[in-house]
Amino acid sequence: MTPIAADPDRRVWSLSTPNTTYAMHVAPDGRLVQLYWGARLSVDEVVPLTQQRTTASGSSFHLPGDVEEQLPVDGGTRWGVPSLQVTFPGGVRSAELEFAGDTVEAEENGHRLDLAFTDGHFPLHVVLHYRVREDSDVVERWVTLKHLGAEGEEPFVIGRADSGSWLAPERADYRYSAVTGAWAAETQLVREHMPFGEFTLANRCGNTGHHANPWLMLDDGTATEEHGEVWGVALAWSGTWRITAQRRFEGRLAVTAGFGHDGVTWQLRPAEELTTPPTLGVYTDGGFGAASRAWHRHARAYVLPHPEAVRPVLYNSWEAVWFDVNEQSQLEIARKAADLGVELFVMDDGWFGKRTNDRAGLGDWWPNPDRFPNGLGPLADGVRKLGMAFGLWVEPEMVNPDSDLYRAHPDWTIHFPHRRRDELRQQLVLNFGRDDVRAWAHGWLDRLVADHGIDFLKWDMNRAISQGGWPERAGDQDRLWIEHTRGVYEVIDRLRSTHPRLRIESCSGGGGRVDYGILARTDEVWTSDNTDAYHRQSIQHGYSQLYPAAAMAAWVTDSPNPITGRTVPLEYRFHVAMSGVLGIGGNLHEWSSEELAQAREWIAAYKRIRVAIQHGDQYRLGAEPGRGLSAVEYVHGDDVVVFVYHPHATVSPAPGHLRLVGLDPDASYQEVALTTGERGHTATGRVLMAAGLPVRRRVAGGDWSSAAVRLQRIR
Ligand code: DGJ
Repeated sequence: MTPIAADPDRRVWSLSTPNTTYAMHVAPDGRLVQLYWGARLSVDEVVPLTQQRTTASGSSFHLPGDVEEQLPVDGGTRWGVPSLQVTFPGGVRSAELEFAGDTVEAEENGHRLDLAFTDGHFPLHVVLHYRVREDSDVVERWVTLKHLGAEGEEPFVIGRADSGSWLAPERADYRYSAVTGAWAAETQLVREHMPFGEFTLANRCGNTGHHANPWLMLDDGTATEEHGEVWGVALAWSGTWRITAQRRFEGRLAVTAGFGHDGVTWQLRPAEELTTPPTLGVYTDGGFGAASRAWHRHARAYVLPHPEAVRPVLYNSWEAVWFDVNEQSQLEIARKAADLGVELFVMDDGWFGKRTNDRAGLGDWWPNPDRFPNGLGPLADGVRKLGMAFGLWVEPEMVNPDSDLYRAHPDWTIHFPHRRRDELRQQLVLNFGRDDVRAWAHGWLDRLVADHGIDFLKWDMNRAISQGGWPERAGDQDRLWIEHTRGVYEVIDRLRSTHPRLRIESCSGGGGRVDYGILARTDEVWTSDNTDAYHRQSIQHGYSQLYPAAAMAAWVTDSPNPITGRTVPLEYRFHVAMSGVLGIGGNLHEWSSEELAQAREWIAAYKRIRVAIQHGDQYRLGAEPGRGLSAVEYVHGDDVVVFVYHPHATVSPAPGHLRLVGLDPDASYQEVALTTGERGHTATGRVLMAAGLPVRRRVAGGDWSSAAVRLQRIR
């Protein structure tokens, strides 16, 4: 079966992934509708569905069919949420799109289908793009709008240009899964009954956002971690966005996803094209766990730039010394980090300009002469002599008004004339839509990386965009909201192409910029500023719904935790951080020699199992983290790693066994002690999945009990 099959006579296109089929149809009334999304079917099985379409009949007040549409426009007899909203010259709205042809193309890593439409009167060309891969269940969609008019003609005003609308098949009920949160409390999983009407997740801050993340999953209310049908939709974009689900009384539910927030408009000029970011969709009948694994596999195969790379163990002194960095003290702590087995040393904020606190210096990207009298060379060389790679924190999009940069270029910031420039964290946002700002940012970043052979940048973004104006583009300044994000992407992409060894971490006040757009150009993300291992469990649980462990930076820091004040044993902190990309962020000068020795052992152990964690399939087991015994399991070839967490001793004893998942039932698995390598108990995959791994003994130690278990398939 080819991944893209078409029946041109009946105007049906069917996209197949290894386990699913997604099909579209230009209905007799000219609307492009979704015909099917679910378990895999052949095109011959799909085509007859055109005859069975049961568009519930409407009234003269509403026609319920528009939820089926792939890109419902604001117009005609549609009163639902539009995915495309255009105002044409003379204030004419109500676009009328007519099918103009299809193209199927084999690409290097997949297959692509383009369905083209044109407006019946105005020269607007709309193409809906689809891409599928042979080994991923994720369907990728995006849209291109083009003004085909001649120079001098009036622009079209685009009020909404979503990347596509997805229809969840009719079910008796619907439930959604999403994440909500805040700074230091990102990605808290919410699983709730889907209300009737319109349900919107959105971000208007200019980053991806702390309070929501651009994805939504749907099920009929009965799916579990390992069973049931789940449909997921995500948007690969790091600026403002909106995802709206509309649940109709007649029994259908559609999700439209797109960049920009409501109210933002884009003037599409003659010959101009507007291409939206990808929206991704996944279907599985294997429950939420299978949905997450499909996302993770897709991210590793088709999103992350270096999925094969094993992420190094990092040290970052932010929580240890905050802004108080200098050559001497960083080298001292670097020695301790190297001694533990750390592979990458990253200096955080405070190394440049007059940046001794958050009130000054952003924008002045040269080493602070008092702190680094001989530049960054001695520290970078010193770190390398210790056998570690060297990384730096940067926040290229920001400027403190108290900086030479702002004094020279106050016009470079995002602002409106006649309006205040509200500061947050004493900083303003540089307009990365401007060519000169991007050229400046690329220039100093390129020199910085080249001059010091920088291996790693932590790219931070610490405030929301406010007063989103671009005075030089008066009349079309809203494009700032799109162009700023595109500008950030462009600078990162250029930097990576000239410095292919460079690795980048995306950060925005913790996990404010985590999405499939930024993951396509960075190697990992800073999940949250909250490093309290207990809170991290729920943050990581929410993160893992969509994003892979290979990109999840997680540090072991001090106890009591500087943000929450909670005291958690070192072992538990390690076990939580080891379930992603392990880093150390504590003040090592204050760790006892015993703690340092333990840390050394855990880091060495992590290196033995990290390939399974970073490249393996992940299974979430047990109760919700923090609500009893929970676990995360990774399976990669013959290697299996399980972290078990039991944060609070309860009146009832902890469960005796934890049933593992994803093993070969007929194979034998032997336990291998993580730190000593000693070989232990053997059991078949069947026993481990049916009866379970004995865990009570391992988590019987009162509060903050945890265990790391390594199993190897031996035959
Ligand atoms: C916010 C980040 O999330 C922190 O890890 C740290 O880099 C600070 N910014 C530095 O200002």
